[in-house]
Amino acid sequence: MPLHRLTRLVLGVPDVDATAVFYRDLGLEEVGPARFASADGGEQLALVEAPHRRVVEIGLGVDDPDDLDRLDRQLGTIGAAVKRDGAELVSADPGTGAGVRVCVAPRIAPSPEPRAPTNSPGRADRTNARAAAIELDPPVRPSKLAHVVLVSPDAEATRRFFLEGLGFKLSDRVGDVISFLRCSTDHHNVAVQAGPASFMHHAAWELADAAEIGRGAQRMVEADPVRHIWGLGRHYIGSNFFWYLRDPAGNFAEYTCDVDVISDDEKWEPGVFEIGKVALFTWGPPPPPFFVEPEDVAELMAGR
Ligand SMILES: [Fe+2]
Repeated sequence: MPLHRLTRLVLGVPDVDATAVFYRDLGLEEVGPARFASADGGEQLALVEAPHRRVVEIGLGVDDPDDLDRLDRQLGTIGAAVKRDGAELVSADPGTGAGVRVCVAPRIAPSPEPRAPTNSPGRADRTNARAAAIELDPPVRPSKLAHVVLVSPDAEATRRFFLEGLGFKLSDRVGDVISFLRCSTDHHNVAVQAGPASFMHHAAWELADAAEIGRGAQRMVEADPVRHIWGLGRHYIGSNFFWYLRDPAGNFAEYTCDVDVISDDEKWEPGVFEIGKVALFTWGPPPPPFFVEPEDVAELMAGR
């Protein structure tokens, strides 16, 4: 496929300053006013003012300019509006109204960070020393924007836009409720959830391992307990560990690690799951009742 990764997310929020504090605390580096970088993905988040929370734009990366021409034609076949903006291609998902901007971007190089030694049955890689992971300092630093889950009032149109228009691949789905789509080797980069209004359910930020998720989330929740939503747990779909937090605008942010990687499309059979526990998770505390449909949905519907 021409695409190889998510590059950037632009979120509209009512209070940019308060929301910026959250993403600074999450471990992103503020590289400009309300603009944030991950450790390996470069600038990946921008916050702009909006009357209610919404996805303004999702950025996608391709390898070379020819890929933009291919996508231009492909989007044309499904009747999506396409505009060329210098060296970039701009379109919009007709289901959610979210903009999509595609540009030539470098691939994310594997992290050169050495893995912390751990002990396991019959194998001691860390001896005569406490684990570095028992310290909350230094703060965690997400390696990249891993995925974005969009709630769409016209999920079929959104699915078609990403699958047929942009060439994403289907990894798994839960009936017609949620589809997990990839534009890289990660199990999902975008998921499309059917819902009554257009909003972002969550954006996920990748950490090295579950130990990092634990200490990152602990710091976030210690600083402000209302941020805690759900975790620590492990998803069945995608196999990733998770801990969900909530930003001041109402968007969920997920710390994630160890997601399934699909390097050979022929070897992955997309699963179709029923609505139920497995669709949500394998283990962890029970999700809060507002996890699937956040508490501000009525407000977002009114603002539509
Ligand atoms: Fe997620």
